[in-house]
Amino acid sequence: LLLSGADRGEAVSQVIQRVLHAISRPSLIEGRELSVSCSIGVSVFPRDGRDVQTIEGLATPDRLHPIQKCFEECASLQCGFCGPGVIMSSKALLDANPNPSIAEIRDALAGNLCRCTGYTKMIEAVQESAKTTRGTLARRTAKVKG
Ligand code: FES
Repeated sequence: LLLSGADRGEAVSQVIQRVLHAISRPSLIEGRELSVSCSIGVSVFPRDGRDVQTIEGLATPDRLHPIQKCFEECASLQCGFCGPGVIMSSKALLDANPNPSIAEIRDALAGNLCRCTGYTKMIEAVQESAKTTRGTLARRTAKVKG
């Protein structure tokens, strides 16, 4: 396995070299294909017990996370290669800011490159996700008060 040995002291350039090597040779983790886009962040993250969330842990097999559902309903992705990064960036944004402006959404998604789409539908999906999230919070608050 190419990306599992990143220790705290390893230089980012060394990790990037190994990622580039991984791209040229498909890698597996316990028989499952390695997602390079997710593994870069995970492999350089200090192993000190902090929570690491990836797209794989966001939903259950039979129920999409609301953000994923909004991306699906807005037809915001084509091939899906950028999807995990875009959706996790959206989640981080909405966790911190439930009512982001378009500029804030653009800024939050800026680290993700999509080769297929314009970003307009992604921004729409994040706006829809924000509405869904705010609606869920309002219903929870009403239940608590009611
Ligand atoms: Fe294909 Fe974004 S949908 S790279």
